[in-house]
Amino acid sequence: MKRTYLVTGGAGFIGANYVKHLLSTYDDVQLVVLDALTYAGNYGTIANDIDGQRCVFVKGDICDQLVVASLFEQYPISVVVNFAAESHVDRSIVNPRLFLETNILGTQNLMDVARASWSTGKDENGYPTWKEGVRFHQVSTDEVYGSLGATGYFTETTPLDPRSPYSASKTSADLIVKAYSETYKFPATITRCSNNYGPYHFPEKLIPLIIKNILEGKPLPVYGDGTNVRDWLYVEDHCKAIELVIRKGKAGEVYNIGGHNEKQNIEIVKLTIDTIRQLMEKEPEYRKALKTDISTVSYGLITHVQDRLGHDKRYAIDPGKMKAELGWYPETNFEQGIVKTIRWYLENQEWVNEVTSGDYQTYYERMYTHH
Ligand code: NAD
Ligand code: TYD
Repeated sequence: MKRTYLVTGGAGFIGANYVKHLLSTYDDVQLVVLDALTYAGNYGTIANDIDGQRCVFVKGDICDQLVVASLFEQYPISVVVNFAAESHVDRSIVNPRLFLETNILGTQNLMDVARASWSTGKDENGYPTWKEGVRFHQVSTDEVYGSLGATGYFTETTPLDPRSPYSASKTSADLIVKAYSETYKFPATITRCSNNYGPYHFPEKLIPLIIKNILEGKPLPVYGDGTNVRDWLYVEDHCKAIELVIRKGKAGEVYNIGGHNEKQNIEIVKLTIDTIRQLMEKEPEYRKALKTDISTVSYGLITHVQDRLGHDKRYAIDPGKMKAELGWYPETNFEQGIVKTIRWYLENQEWVNEVTSGDYQTYYERMYTHH
Protein backbone atom coordinates (compact mmCIF):
# COMPACT_ATOMS: atom_id res chain seq x y z
CA MET A 1 0.00 0.00 0.00
CA LYS A 2 1.36 3.41 -0.97
CA ARG A 3 1.72 5.83 1.95
CA THR A 4 1.84 9.60 1.76
CA TYR A 5 4.23 11.29 4.16
CA LEU A 6 4.23 14.91 5.21
CA VAL A 7 7.91 15.63 5.89
CA THR A 8 8.38 18.99 7.59
CA GLY A 9 11.80 20.66 7.56
CA GLY A 10 12.76 18.50 4.57
CA ALA A 11 15.03 21.20 3.13
CA GLY A 12 17.20 21.19 6.26
CA PHE A 13 20.07 18.91 7.17
CA ILE A 14 18.47 15.74 8.55
CA GLY A 15 15.13 16.22 6.76
CA ALA A 16 16.83 16.39 3.35
CA ASN A 17 18.87 13.28 4.07
CA TYR A 18 15.66 11.55 5.14
CA VAL A 19 13.83 12.58 1.93
CA LYS A 20 16.69 11.18 -0.16
CA HIS A 21 16.82 8.02 1.96
CA LEU A 22 13.09 7.34 1.56
CA LEU A 23 13.02 8.02 -2.17
CA SER A 24 16.02 5.78 -2.84
CA THR A 25 14.95 2.94 -0.52
CA TYR A 26 11.16 2.58 -0.78
CA ASP A 27 8.79 2.33 -3.72
CA ASP A 28 5.69 2.63 -1.57
CA VAL A 29 6.05 6.26 -0.49
CA GLN A 30 4.82 9.62 -1.72
CA LEU A 31 6.34 12.67 -0.02
CA VAL A 32 4.95 16.13 0.62
CA VAL A 33 7.80 18.31 1.88
CA LEU A 34 6.80 21.39 3.88
CA ASP A 35 9.58 23.82 4.71
CA ALA A 36 9.64 27.54 5.50
CA LEU A 37 13.13 27.86 3.94
CA THR A 38 14.61 29.77 6.86
CA TYR A 39 18.35 30.51 6.79
CA ALA A 40 18.85 26.78 7.58
CA GLY A 41 16.68 25.47 4.77
CA ASN A 42 17.82 25.31 1.17
CA TYR A 43 15.56 24.31 -1.70
CA GLY A 44 18.58 23.46 -3.86
CA THR A 45 19.46 20.61 -1.50
CA ILE A 46 16.39 18.65 -2.56
CA ALA A 47 15.60 20.28 -5.92
CA ASN A 48 16.57 17.12 -7.82
CA ASP A 49 14.29 15.01 -5.64
CA ILE A 50 11.18 17.10 -6.30
CA ASP A 51 9.30 15.73 -9.32
CA GLY A 52 5.85 17.13 -8.54
CA GLN A 53 4.38 13.63 -8.20
CA ARG A 54 6.27 11.22 -6.00
CA CYS A 55 7.78 14.14 -4.14
CA VAL A 56 6.21 17.59 -3.96
CA PHE A 57 7.49 20.71 -2.23
CA VAL A 58 5.50 23.42 -0.46
CA LYS A 59 7.09 26.50 1.05
CA GLY A 60 5.27 27.24 4.28
CA ASP A 61 5.35 27.52 8.06
CA ILE A 62 4.38 24.59 10.32
CA CYS A 63 2.68 27.14 12.60
CA ASP A 64 0.31 28.16 9.79
CA GLN A 65 -2.95 26.29 10.35
CA LEU A 66 -4.39 27.11 6.91
CA VAL A 67 -1.33 25.90 5.03
CA VAL A 68 -1.08 22.64 6.96
CA ALA A 69 -4.83 21.99 6.71
CA SER A 70 -4.76 22.59 2.96
CA LEU A 71 -2.05 19.93 2.58
CA PHE A 72 -4.19 17.39 4.42
CA GLU A 73 -7.09 18.27 2.11
CA GLN A 74 -4.99 17.98 -1.01
CA TYR A 75 -3.04 14.79 -0.23
CA PRO A 76 -3.92 11.51 1.53
CA ILE A 77 -1.33 12.10 4.26
CA SER A 78 -1.06 9.16 6.65
CA VAL A 79 2.37 9.81 8.20
CA VAL A 80 3.78 13.09 9.52
CA VAL A 81 7.50 13.28 10.27
CA ASN A 82 8.29 16.53 12.03
CA PHE A 83 11.87 17.66 11.48
CA ALA A 84 11.03 21.37 11.17
CA ALA A 85 12.58 23.32 14.00
CA GLU A 86 14.94 26.05 14.99
CA SER A 87 17.87 23.80 15.79
CA HIS A 88 20.92 25.78 16.87
CA VAL A 89 21.56 26.10 20.63
CA ASP A 90 23.66 29.27 20.22
CA ARG A 91 20.87 31.05 18.35
CA SER A 92 18.38 29.99 21.04
CA ILE A 93 20.51 31.82 23.59
CA VAL A 94 20.22 35.01 21.52
CA ASN A 95 16.54 34.70 20.47
CA PRO A 96 14.57 32.16 22.55
CA ARG A 97 11.13 33.30 21.42
CA LEU A 98 11.44 32.04 17.85
CA PHE A 99 12.40 28.63 19.24
CA LEU A 100 9.31 28.46 21.41
CA GLU A 101 7.05 29.50 18.55
CA THR A 102 8.38 27.11 15.92
CA ASN A 103 9.36 24.16 18.04
CA ILE A 104 6.41 24.08 20.45
CA LEU A 105 3.47 25.77 18.73
CA GLY A 106 4.46 24.40 15.32
CA THR A 107 4.38 20.85 16.68
CA GLN A 108 1.04 21.45 18.34
CA ASN A 109 -0.41 22.90 15.13
CA LEU A 110 0.71 19.91 13.06
CA MET A 111 -0.82 17.52 15.58
CA ASP A 112 -4.10 19.43 15.75
CA VAL A 113 -4.53 19.39 11.98
CA ALA A 114 -3.56 15.70 11.82
CA ARG A 115 -6.01 14.96 14.62
CA ALA A 116 -8.86 16.62 12.78
CA SER A 117 -7.99 14.82 9.55
CA TRP A 118 -7.30 11.36 10.98
CA SER A 119 -10.10 10.95 13.50
CA THR A 120 -12.90 8.59 12.48
CA GLY A 121 -15.20 8.84 15.51
CA LYS A 122 -15.18 7.86 19.18
CA ASP A 123 -14.91 4.62 21.11
CA GLU A 124 -17.21 3.66 24.00
CA ASN A 125 -15.06 5.61 26.49
CA GLY A 126 -15.07 8.77 24.41
CA TYR A 127 -11.55 8.42 23.05
CA PRO A 128 -11.13 9.34 19.39
CA THR A 129 -10.66 6.46 16.95
CA TRP A 130 -8.13 6.81 14.15
CA LYS A 131 -7.78 5.92 10.50
CA GLU A 132 -5.87 2.70 9.92
CA GLY A 133 -2.08 3.03 9.73
CA VAL A 134 -1.69 6.72 10.61
CA ARG A 135 1.34 7.91 12.57
CA PHE A 136 2.79 11.21 13.82
CA HIS A 137 6.51 11.10 14.38
CA GLN A 138 8.34 13.75 16.37
CA VAL A 139 12.09 14.09 15.80
CA SER A 140 13.54 15.10 19.14
CA THR A 141 16.94 15.29 20.75
CA ASP A 142 18.96 13.78 23.59
CA GLU A 143 19.42 17.36 24.85
CA VAL A 144 16.02 17.03 26.58
CA TYR A 145 17.78 14.88 29.20
CA GLY A 146 20.18 17.67 30.19
CA SER A 147 23.86 17.12 30.81
CA LEU A 148 25.81 14.07 32.01
CA GLY A 149 28.92 13.95 34.16
CA ALA A 150 31.91 11.81 33.25
CA THR A 151 29.94 8.55 33.39
CA GLY A 152 26.48 7.19 32.61
CA TYR A 153 24.14 7.18 29.60
CA PHE A 154 20.75 8.59 28.68
CA THR A 155 17.99 5.98 28.53
CA GLU A 156 14.36 6.59 27.61
CA THR A 157 13.51 6.82 31.33
CA THR A 158 16.17 9.38 32.23
CA PRO A 159 14.31 12.39 33.74
CA LEU A 160 13.85 15.33 31.41
CA ASP A 161 16.12 18.18 32.47
CA PRO A 162 16.64 20.64 29.60
CA ARG A 163 19.08 23.49 30.21
CA SER A 164 19.10 25.65 27.07
CA PRO A 165 16.19 27.51 25.46
CA TYR A 166 16.56 25.14 22.49
CA SER A 167 16.37 21.98 24.57
CA ALA A 168 13.57 23.44 26.71
CA SER A 169 11.55 24.07 23.56
CA LYS A 170 12.17 20.52 22.27
CA THR A 171 11.26 19.09 25.68
CA SER A 172 8.03 21.09 25.69
CA ALA A 173 7.15 19.72 22.27
CA ASP A 174 7.85 16.17 23.48
CA LEU A 175 5.56 16.73 26.46
CA ILE A 176 2.75 17.97 24.23
CA VAL A 177 3.19 14.92 21.98
CA LYS A 178 3.09 12.68 25.06
CA ALA A 179 0.02 14.50 26.37
CA TYR A 180 -1.81 13.97 23.05
CA SER A 181 -0.82 10.27 23.12
CA GLU A 182 -2.40 9.92 26.56
CA THR A 183 -5.38 12.24 26.26
CA TYR A 184 -6.54 11.37 22.75
CA LYS A 185 -4.64 8.10 22.22
CA PHE A 186 -3.16 10.03 19.29
CA PRO A 187 -0.84 7.60 17.44
CA ALA A 188 2.52 9.27 17.94
CA THR A 189 6.14 8.22 18.44
CA ILE A 190 9.18 10.23 19.51
CA THR A 191 12.84 9.61 18.75
CA ARG A 192 15.60 11.36 20.68
CA CYS A 193 18.89 11.29 18.87
CA SER A 194 22.41 12.44 19.59
CA ASN A 195 24.43 14.92 17.49
CA ASN A 196 24.16 14.13 13.79
CA TYR A 197 26.84 14.76 11.17
CA GLY A 198 27.14 14.10 7.44
CA PRO A 199 26.31 15.72 4.06
CA TYR A 200 24.16 18.89 3.85
CA HIS A 201 24.90 19.95 7.44
CA PHE A 202 24.60 23.73 7.68
CA PRO A 203 28.05 25.21 8.40
CA GLU A 204 27.24 26.86 11.70
CA LYS A 205 27.27 23.56 13.64
CA LEU A 206 30.61 22.31 14.89
CA ILE A 207 31.74 19.80 12.25
CA PRO A 208 30.76 21.60 9.02
CA LEU A 209 31.90 24.94 10.48
CA ILE A 210 35.30 23.50 11.28
CA ILE A 211 35.64 21.99 7.80
CA LYS A 212 34.65 25.29 6.16
CA ASN A 213 37.03 27.35 8.28
CA ILE A 214 39.95 24.97 7.70
CA LEU A 215 39.46 25.30 3.94
CA GLU A 216 39.38 29.10 4.27
CA GLY A 217 42.33 29.26 6.67
CA LYS A 218 40.13 30.87 9.35
CA PRO A 219 40.31 30.35 13.15
CA LEU A 220 38.54 27.26 14.50
CA PRO A 221 36.46 28.47 17.47
CA VAL A 222 36.53 25.93 20.29
CA TYR A 223 34.21 26.87 23.15
CA GLY A 224 35.94 26.82 26.56
CA ASP A 225 38.58 24.14 27.01
CA GLY A 226 37.08 21.85 24.35
CA THR A 227 36.50 18.92 26.71
CA ASN A 228 32.70 18.85 26.28
CA VAL A 229 31.58 15.51 24.90
CA ARG A 230 29.00 14.73 22.21
CA ASP A 231 27.91 11.30 20.94
CA TRP A 232 28.11 11.52 17.14
CA LEU A 233 25.60 9.82 14.86
CA TYR A 234 26.05 9.53 11.10
CA VAL A 235 22.93 11.06 9.55
CA GLU A 236 22.14 8.05 7.34
CA ASP A 237 22.07 5.77 10.39
CA HIS A 238 19.64 8.21 11.96
CA CYS A 239 17.34 8.24 8.90
CA LYS A 240 17.21 4.43 8.88
CA ALA A 241 16.35 4.41 12.57
CA ILE A 242 13.50 6.91 12.17
CA GLU A 243 11.96 4.87 9.38
CA LEU A 244 12.21 1.71 11.45
CA VAL A 245 10.42 3.40 14.34
CA ILE A 246 7.67 4.65 12.01
CA ARG A 247 7.17 1.23 10.44
CA LYS A 248 7.77 -1.06 13.42
CA GLY A 249 7.80 1.08 16.58
CA LYS A 250 4.89 1.20 18.99
CA ALA A 251 2.62 4.26 19.19
CA GLY A 252 3.07 6.14 22.47
CA GLU A 253 6.72 5.11 22.80
CA VAL A 254 10.00 7.03 22.94
CA TYR A 255 13.18 5.63 21.35
CA ASN A 256 16.74 6.90 21.88
CA ILE A 257 18.95 6.86 18.79
CA GLY A 258 22.74 7.05 18.93
CA GLY A 259 25.43 5.31 20.76
CA HIS A 260 29.06 4.76 21.51
CA ASN A 261 30.61 7.39 19.29
CA GLU A 262 31.57 9.78 22.09
CA LYS A 263 34.25 12.37 21.43
CA GLN A 264 35.46 15.56 23.07
CA ASN A 265 35.08 18.63 20.87
CA ILE A 266 38.82 19.21 20.79
CA GLU A 267 39.32 15.63 19.53
CA ILE A 268 36.78 16.28 16.78
CA VAL A 269 38.59 19.42 15.70
CA LYS A 270 42.01 17.74 15.66
CA LEU A 271 40.71 14.65 13.86
CA THR A 272 39.08 16.87 11.22
CA ILE A 273 42.32 18.78 10.65
CA ASP A 274 44.33 15.53 10.43
CA THR A 275 41.85 13.91 8.05
CA ILE A 276 41.69 16.89 5.68
CA ARG A 277 45.45 17.11 5.58
CA GLN A 278 45.87 13.37 4.92
CA LEU A 279 43.22 13.38 2.18
CA MET A 280 44.89 16.34 0.47
CA GLU A 281 48.32 14.74 0.67
CA LYS A 282 47.04 11.45 -0.75
CA GLU A 283 44.68 12.94 -3.34
CA PRO A 284 46.10 16.33 -4.38
CA GLU A 285 43.05 17.20 -6.54
CA TYR A 286 41.21 17.90 -3.28
CA ARG A 287 43.52 20.88 -2.73
CA LYS A 288 41.44 22.91 -5.14
CA ALA A 289 38.86 23.24 -2.33
CA LEU A 290 41.49 25.03 -0.27
CA LYS A 291 41.54 28.85 -0.29
CA THR A 292 44.99 28.98 1.30
CA ASP A 293 48.15 26.88 1.30
CA ILE A 294 48.15 23.31 2.64
CA SER A 295 50.62 24.34 5.34
CA THR A 296 47.79 26.25 7.07
CA VAL A 297 45.86 23.00 7.61
CA SER A 298 47.25 22.61 11.11
CA TYR A 299 46.45 22.79 14.79
CA GLY A 300 47.63 26.41 14.62
CA LEU A 301 44.07 27.34 13.54
CA ILE A 302 42.57 26.14 16.84
CA THR A 303 41.32 29.13 18.84
CA HIS A 304 39.79 28.72 22.28
CA VAL A 305 36.97 31.26 22.72
CA GLN A 306 34.60 32.15 25.52
CA ASP A 307 32.48 29.19 26.58
CA ARG A 308 28.80 28.89 25.57
CA LEU A 309 26.43 30.02 28.35
CA GLY A 310 25.10 26.99 30.23
CA HIS A 311 27.19 24.69 28.03
CA ASP A 312 26.09 21.06 28.57
CA LYS A 313 29.13 18.98 29.50
CA ARG A 314 28.41 15.57 28.06
CA TYR A 315 25.74 13.72 26.07
CA ALA A 316 25.82 9.94 25.59
CA ILE A 317 23.02 7.63 24.47
CA ASP A 318 22.23 4.11 25.56
CA PRO A 319 20.66 2.67 22.39
CA GLY A 320 19.63 -0.59 24.12
CA LYS A 321 15.90 -0.22 23.45
CA MET A 322 16.37 0.38 19.69
CA LYS A 323 18.62 -2.67 19.52
CA ALA A 324 16.46 -5.00 21.62
CA GLU A 325 13.08 -4.03 20.17
CA LEU A 326 13.85 -3.05 16.58
CA GLY A 327 17.26 -4.59 15.89
CA TRP A 328 18.86 -1.20 15.11
CA TYR A 329 22.40 -0.14 15.89
CA PRO A 330 24.58 2.63 14.40
CA GLU A 331 26.46 1.07 11.48
CA THR A 332 28.94 3.89 10.88
CA ASN A 333 31.66 4.57 13.44
CA PHE A 334 33.04 8.07 13.75
CA GLU A 335 36.34 7.36 12.00
CA GLN A 336 34.48 6.11 8.87
CA GLY A 337 31.76 8.73 9.02
CA ILE A 338 34.08 11.71 9.29
CA VAL A 339 36.04 10.65 6.19
CA LYS A 340 32.80 10.29 4.20
CA THR A 341 31.61 13.68 5.48
CA ILE A 342 34.86 15.50 4.70
CA ARG A 343 35.01 14.00 1.20
CA TRP A 344 31.44 15.19 0.63
CA TYR A 345 32.33 18.77 1.67
CA LEU A 346 35.48 18.79 -0.43
CA GLU A 347 33.43 17.71 -3.44
CA ASN A 348 30.46 20.01 -2.77
CA GLN A 349 31.94 23.44 -2.18
CA GLU A 350 29.26 24.95 -4.42
CA TRP A 351 26.60 23.83 -1.96
CA VAL A 352 28.52 25.48 0.90
CA ASN A 353 28.82 28.71 -1.09
CA GLU A 354 25.13 28.62 -1.97
CA VAL A 355 23.86 28.18 1.60
CA THR A 356 26.22 30.76 3.05
CA SER A 357 25.71 33.42 0.36
CA GLY A 358 23.99 36.71 1.18
CA ASP A 359 24.62 38.46 4.46
CA TYR A 360 24.93 35.24 6.42
CA GLN A 361 27.37 35.23 9.35
CA THR A 362 28.20 32.39 11.69
CA TYR A 363 27.41 32.79 15.36
CA TYR A 364 31.14 32.97 16.06
CA GLU A 365 31.65 35.81 13.59
CA ARG A 366 28.72 37.75 15.06
CA MET A 367 29.82 37.24 18.63
CA TYR A 368 33.58 37.53 18.46
CA THR A 369 34.82 39.41 15.43
CA HIS A 370 32.92 42.71 15.55
CA HIS A 371 33.59 44.12 18.99
P1 NAD B 1 18.15 22.30 10.40
O1 NAD B 1 18.24 23.57 11.16
O2 NAD B 1 19.25 21.92 9.47
O3 NAD B 1 16.81 22.28 9.52
C1 NAD B 1 15.60 22.72 10.00
C2 NAD B 1 14.65 22.89 8.81
O4 NAD B 1 13.38 23.31 9.32
C3 NAD B 1 15.11 23.94 7.81
O5 NAD B 1 14.96 23.46 6.49
C4 NAD B 1 14.16 25.12 8.07
O6 NAD B 1 13.92 25.90 6.91
C5 NAD B 1 12.91 24.39 8.52
N1 NAD B 1 12.05 25.22 9.37
C6 NAD B 1 12.41 26.00 10.42
N2 NAD B 1 11.34 26.62 10.93
C7 NAD B 1 10.27 26.21 10.21
C8 NAD B 1 8.88 26.49 10.26
N3 NAD B 1 8.37 27.33 11.16
N4 NAD B 1 8.06 25.89 9.35
C9 NAD B 1 8.57 25.05 8.43
N5 NAD B 1 9.88 24.76 8.32
C10 NAD B 1 10.72 25.33 9.21
O7 NAD B 1 17.91 21.17 11.49
P2 NAD B 1 18.39 19.65 11.52
O8 NAD B 1 19.73 19.59 12.09
O9 NAD B 1 18.11 19.03 10.21
O10 NAD B 1 17.38 19.08 12.62
C11 NAD B 1 16.14 18.48 12.24
C12 NAD B 1 15.40 18.06 13.50
O11 NAD B 1 16.19 17.14 14.24
C13 NAD B 1 15.09 19.21 14.45
O12 NAD B 1 13.81 19.01 14.98
C14 NAD B 1 16.14 19.09 15.54
O13 NAD B 1 15.66 19.57 16.77
C15 NAD B 1 16.34 17.59 15.57
N6 NAD B 1 17.68 17.17 16.01
C16 NAD B 1 18.80 17.55 15.34
C17 NAD B 1 20.05 17.09 15.75
C18 NAD B 1 21.29 17.44 15.02
O14 NAD B 1 22.38 17.00 15.42
N7 NAD B 1 21.26 18.19 13.93
C19 NAD B 1 20.16 16.28 16.88
C20 NAD B 1 18.99 15.93 17.57
C21 NAD B 1 17.76 16.36 17.11
P1 TYD C 1 26.75 22.17 17.95
O1 TYD C 1 27.20 21.61 16.66
O2 TYD C 1 26.27 23.58 18.00
O3 TYD C 1 25.66 21.16 18.54
P2 TYD C 1 24.98 21.10 20.02
O4 TYD C 1 25.25 22.35 20.74
O5 TYD C 1 23.54 20.92 19.71
O6 TYD C 1 25.59 19.90 20.70
O7 TYD C 1 27.96 22.04 19.00
C1 TYD C 1 28.57 20.80 19.25
C2 TYD C 1 29.59 21.02 20.33
O8 TYD C 1 30.65 21.86 19.81
C3 TYD C 1 29.07 21.78 21.55
O9 TYD C 1 29.69 21.26 22.72
C4 TYD C 1 29.48 23.22 21.32
C5 TYD C 1 30.77 23.07 20.56
N1 TYD C 1 31.07 24.13 19.57
C6 TYD C 1 32.33 24.75 19.57
O10 TYD C 1 33.21 24.44 20.40
N2 TYD C 1 32.58 25.70 18.62
C7 TYD C 1 31.65 26.07 17.69
O11 TYD C 1 31.92 26.97 16.86
C8 TYD C 1 30.37 25.42 17.70
C9 TYD C 1 29.32 25.80 16.70
C10 TYD C 1 30.14 24.45 18.66
